[in-house]
Amino acid sequence: MAEPRFSILSEEFAAAPERYFGRLREHAPVHHEPAADAWFLSRHRDVRRVLTDHEAFSTETLQVRAEPVMRGPVLAQMTGAEHTAKRRIVVRAFTGPALQEQVRTLRANAVELLAPLLARGRMDLVNEFGKPFAVRAALDVLGLDREDWRWIAGRLAGVGEFVTAVTLTEDRRRVCLELAGELEAHLAPIVEQRRRHPGADLISALCTAEFDGVAMSIREVVALIINVLVAAVEPADKTLGLLLKHLIDHPAQLADVRRDPSLLPAAIAETLRFTPPVQLVPRQAERDTEFAGTVVPAGATVFCLIGAANRDPEVFTDPDRFDLHRPDLGAARSFTAAAQHLAFGTGLHQCVGAAFARAEIETVAALLLPLLEDVRLTPGSTYRETGLYTRGPAALSLDFTPVRTSATLPYHH
Ligand code: HEM
Repeated sequence: MAEPRFSILSEEFAAAPERYFGRLREHAPVHHEPAADAWFLSRHRDVRRVLTDHEAFSTETLQVRAEPVMRGPVLAQMTGAEHTAKRRIVVRAFTGPALQEQVRTLRANAVELLAPLLARGRMDLVNEFGKPFAVRAALDVLGLDREDWRWIAGRLAGVGEFVTAVTLTEDRRRVCLELAGELEAHLAPIVEQRRRHPGADLISALCTAEFDGVAMSIREVVALIINVLVAAVEPADKTLGLLLKHLIDHPAQLADVRRDPSLLPAAIAETLRFTPPVQLVPRQAERDTEFAGTVVPAGATVFCLIGAANRDPEVFTDPDRFDLHRPDLGAARSFTAAAQHLAFGTGLHQCVGAAFARAEIETVAALLLPLLEDVRLTPGSTYRETGLYTRGPAALSLDFTPVRTSATLPYHH
């Protein structure tokens, strides 16, 4: 691009990627990164093309990027009838009547975790609340013991690091594989037990479902569990932290949401457009393909820069502005296959957890906002977003008038 030494792997880019999105889209929409031996695409139309042209761009990369730590093939790398069948099982667990049931659990979970934090008048929304909340929520749906959340979170961090590293040292690679092995050893006997005595949870559904007349192997079920855990946990606490940060930065919009909580889905959708927590989605080029005059060769790894695509002025007016009222957001379809923003991906592998993620964030925000009337960033605290692949606040320290929860939080529904 314009500056020859520019690199997506540089510290400057990591500090504030959004500063470079415009230049990438305009001057280097097909940017090659020699150190990662990969191509980075930044325009909305090119990213959409990569994610919807399943013949030209496959998810083969995941065999190397994900399979070793998922301990088996993940949903995103499957195709055809197998993908459709297994995806349907997961979708069913996270939408419709199952989701309505889960909202109650999500709320109870949030209330339990928030009570001690609210009484203090200060909390780190990301680390003290968001992370445990997201892990426990996923464990509940799977039917795993939520008391194990801390141990599971430690192992998932290793799995997540492996999947999301653009480059990984041999040492870290070994540590991540060990952590993934421990998680597999923990889950395999549970899967075996659920197969014999199924319940109403997702693991039981995966164990008892048949594909082409054959039930999934224990290894396959374990891989799908790890897949769902990583996919569900990594972006959720980030989205919640980003939502609160954007609303605090835009007091008029915060006041609008307080006055009219039905605006919350739009605020969440705009957060996902403006700062998507999953910034990179990888694919493998199956044939030479031309974008803006540059040919991406067959066999190459391609990364879709979701953050840059979501700020493409061809699709969103004044894209660098956070505006939950923007007419081009299409809030109502933001959590469906018709979404304009690409935070959940698009095409065959579009996120199966979009409705669940929305429910998680909406439940928490609807609980918090009326209670935290004077919420503000802790004076003197530093705010920093980190991560190249998944990105969000390292911490979000909030101050507010302490809340005595027993009187105000609805425990019964
Ligand atoms: C705000 C929260 C979330 C964001 C931003 C997000 C983002 C994404 C993205 C970008 C993809 C596409 C990956 C690709 O095309 O290769 C994806 C796929 C997926 N997501 Fe999410 N996700 C979120 C929450 C969740 C939750 C709560 C679950 C729980 C079930 C989940 C489960 C999955 C699964 C299983 C896939 C693979 C689907 C397939 O290949 O068919 N995600 N997600």
